[in-house]
Amino acid sequence: MHDRRDDVVEEVRSRIDIVDVISEHVALRRAGRNYVGLCPFHDEDTPSFNVSPDRQMFYCFGCQKGGDVFTFVMEHRGLDFRQALELLAERAGVTLPDRALSPEQRRLQAQRKALLDVMERAARYFENLLLRAPSAEGARQYLHRRGLEAGTVRSFGLGWSEAEWDALGSALRSRGVAPDLLVEAGLVIRKEDGSTYDRFRGRLMFPIRDERGRVIAFGGRTLGDDQPKYLNSPETPLFHKSRVLYALDRARGRMRQRDRAIIVEGYMDAVTAHQSGFEEAVASLGTALSEDQARMLVRHAGRIYIAYDADAAGDRATMRGLEHFARLGRASSVFIVRLPQGHDPDSLIRERGAAAFQALLDRAQPLVDYVFDRALQAHDVLRPEGKAQVVRLVAPWWASLESAVARSDYMRRFAERLGVDEAALRAELARLVGRRRAVTDPVVSGRAAAGRGVAGPGGDGIRNKSREAVGRLRSRGGRSIHPGGVPAVPGHVRAERELVRALLHEPDLVRRVLARVEPGAFTDPRAREAVEVMARLAGASPMGAAAGGNGTPAGEVTAGETSPERKPWGRLVFDNLLTDEAASWVGGLIMAGPPPGDAVALVDDCVQRLERARIERRASELRQLILQRESAGEEVPGSLILEHDELQRKLRGIESERR
Ligand code: UTP
Ligand code: MN
Repeated sequence: MHDRRDDVVEEVRSRIDIVDVISEHVALRRAGRNYVGLCPFHDEDTPSFNVSPDRQMFYCFGCQKGGDVFTFVMEHRGLDFRQALELLAERAGVTLPDRALSPEQRRLQAQRKALLDVMERAARYFENLLLRAPSAEGARQYLHRRGLEAGTVRSFGLGWSEAEWDALGSALRSRGVAPDLLVEAGLVIRKEDGSTYDRFRGRLMFPIRDERGRVIAFGGRTLGDDQPKYLNSPETPLFHKSRVLYALDRARGRMRQRDRAIIVEGYMDAVTAHQSGFEEAVASLGTALSEDQARMLVRHAGRIYIAYDADAAGDRATMRGLEHFARLGRASSVFIVRLPQGHDPDSLIRERGAAAFQALLDRAQPLVDYVFDRALQAHDVLRPEGKAQVVRLVAPWWASLESAVARSDYMRRFAERLGVDEAALRAELARLVGRRRAVTDPVVSGRAAAGRGVAGPGGDGIRNKSREAVGRLRSRGGRSIHPGGVPAVPGHVRAERELVRALLHEPDLVRRVLARVEPGAFTDPRAREAVEVMARLAGASPMGAAAGGNGTPAGEVTAGETSPERKPWGRLVFDNLLTDEAASWVGGLIMAGPPPGDAVALVDDCVQRLERARIERRASELRQLILQRESAGEEVPGSLILEHDELQRKLRGIESERR
């Protein structure tokens, strides 16, 4: 099975030219044997992005990203290996072995394919009308009035639906599309007598695409005052509204590059944002952000900016979105952009310019501040009950912060702004967080939170939080060499943290880890220091830390070196650290408790991540060496190429093992 996949990978690779693929996204010019252009992965003015047709690889001397055509597609479009393979295989005309699909799965796949085809045709039909039909003159003027440039209209593929009952239907039927398929696609509606009519009539059409850029639905805006303002496709086998982010296909590359996502409410907000350079903007299609959407966002960017309309509905939608992020353990990644009353990003940018929007982004409020402000506004903090209520409302949000430093910082500020004693506040927060409790909207659902403990994700506070962090770490597991997005903290750094955390509580595993990674392999200096200390302490024991099996090696380690009494292992490590940075970091990890679940599996997983990160670094060095020689017109030693290819093979091996 392994071999089968490798065969297919090689087959695809052999049929595709990396220069073709990359030049669709990057303007390349020839320079000697290679091509150069502006790097799509970081902002630059002079080209340092190199593509080698001979080697079929790319490398950026600026940001040091590099790899083969699979890596490029994965990085650029934010796909995992499997998805990149599918995409490139389709392009190369290679059929992937569809591993034992059931007849039912095969039927669904065929249906999806047929539906995608219909949607694509419909999109082209609408687009053509908008660009050329006399009947779309009003729509063209409307777009012009709203400040959309021709290039923007084209790149979003906007369209126009005729104000007739059977324009699209008859057009597609005459091109051989089965009537039933049009109904399934949600493009036409069937009446009781069996006849059909177009769902979208006389509307400006926004094609909604999936992550891979395929049209899966439409939103149609009226040019007048009809209701609804936007008519959307119904749920279909292709389209599940809560799992789509409008413009994500175009935004994902930028999101990664800037490590920032901007989430807006509406189609027009997203389009205008992109036109003004905020290409990391996506729209949630309506008001409330769903959990799936939140998940998609955190996969792509380390910082999430919520820029919802400045009205009551937008405010409520913001709050609901925040709950998802807190539940995902990402409360500290979220910032709320406060727009002037009555504005949405589209109107703001049009009336005051991109710089004004940027200024608001710069001033965006961290999630907990926002929640606190809302709670303060909703309650009378001059009265003791009001204060207590605010504290109750803020507690679960506060607890959802990952960083102990941030938590203590907030505690101080809360105390100050509420005019209460910090020690009392600390006690109260500890009490509240100890109870199970969900994050809730301080304004809308203040009541519920104040009452009985609601079992919820923000729930058992810090511990739960770290459990989710680990769960996330694991489940993102090995889907891809570049697991979903560049998080605020790179994956391997997080792996280092979880690894050290496990070792602080499971000394038996120290040997197991040290057999496979050296302390020097850790990139976080605090982790390196902690592991060095553990290695030393474990080595200091006559039996070795791993030898004990069940006993705490703390007892086995010759205590004389550090302490006369039997200290818990974590404490022993802590006491032997030299730097304050490492000590406060390790202290936090000890307090976080052992990672839940199977420690051995976690540790092995982390070790593998580190190994992978190390291989990636070395491969990247090699690519740099190879391309440097090539650009200088020198012979490239075969050994470099062999080592590089060997590393790539290893990476793919790790990759498919993990699937
Ligand atoms: P808004 O009413 O804020 O519209 O709805 P908008 O995006 O500012 O649109 P313009 O500027 O008036 O053209 C925000 C989003 O909610 C969804 C759409 O996705 C819309 O972009 N919506 C709104 C609907 O699906 N149906 C509606 O009737 C209204
Ligand atoms: Mn608007």
